[in-house]
Amino acid sequence: MTSSPADSSAEPGAPADPAGTPGATADANQITAVEPTARTPRRQPVQGKAVEDPSFYRAEPVSFVRRGERMTAGQERAWEEMKDEILIDVPRHHASTSILPDAVIDIPGAFEHPERPLTVEIGSGLGEATAHAAAEHPERNFLAVEVYTPGLAKLMEEVRDRGLKNVRVMQANAPEVLDIALQPGQVDELWIFFSDPWHKKRHHKRRLITDAFAERAASVIRPGGTWRLATDWSNYAEQMREIIANSEDFVNLHAGERAGLESPLTDIRRQEIENREAEPEFVDELGGWAPRFEGRTLTSFEAKALRAGRNIFDLSARRA
Ligand SMILES: C[S@@+](CC[C@H](N)C(=O)[O-])C[C@H]1O[C@@H](n2cnc3c(N)ncnc32)[C@H](O)[C@@H]1O
Repeated sequence: MTSSPADSSAEPGAPADPAGTPGATADANQITAVEPTARTPRRQPVQGKAVEDPSFYRAEPVSFVRRGERMTAGQERAWEEMKDEILIDVPRHHASTSILPDAVIDIPGAFEHPERPLTVEIGSGLGEATAHAAAEHPERNFLAVEVYTPGLAKLMEEVRDRGLKNVRVMQANAPEVLDIALQPGQVDELWIFFSDPWHKKRHHKRRLITDAFAERAASVIRPGGTWRLATDWSNYAEQMREIIANSEDFVNLHAGERAGLESPLTDIRRQEIENREAEPEFVDELGGWAPRFEGRTLTSFEAKALRAGRNIFDLSARRA
């Protein structure tokens, strides 16, 4: 049995979903017990209910807002037809997109060829990047992680219609996927394209890419593996660049490149865009921006950003 779409009634960022039934959705066919492996100790909550009651795992604000969960008839059909084949079901904790902290989930074992290199796309949206890359690279495995049900259903439609055999999807909060579901070194490439930018300063704490997230990424990407990021929001791009620079676990593969007048940051800061005034003298001395990753297809989200005149920042880092 595979679950129906995650309950859309959960409040964004809510630490607990009282209606949640821990463990109730575990699927013996899809979750295979594996030996736990050594990994970085789980982070301890420092604020909120979880300090006193560790079972309130979601001490950090989540980086998403649950959007409308209504699916088209076609998406509903695709969900029903494909869920048993490609949805990796997870036992839930308090919230409908959480993962039971002690769950043991065999992600490679969910693929027809568990030994093949795994790309994980976090925040896959409508699944355009994963579907495109999976079709181009049948020799690799792809896991799409997303909380938005219609987006996952759209990807299921693509997987079915294109006959893709190398895609699996997981509906869960990404930090928990990295902390609980993925094991050390399982990931060959980690992709996060157009993570919600949370423009307002008071919302920056909801951004997904933080120093703590980099630690999580480092714990699942194999040494020599790659972390790829793209964003259309310059201030978030700078944050990502700094996080990579400060991390001992990652090396920016394009450190120092595209600096000065060639930098997309220089270009955008000199314009009046992104809710800020133009800074005509601004120069990005640091650079560090990757060329556009050729494996990243143009998604509808990126197309919209380009139409709005924003620049796209790509970053890629190697796991040391
Ligand atoms: C701006 S959209 C970009 C979608 C897609 N990557 C693209 O380029 O079109 C960001 C996506 O990340 C998802 N997301 C945000 N935080 C997440 C989290 N903590 N776990 C899983 N998905 C998340 C959102 O639901 C949303 O679909």
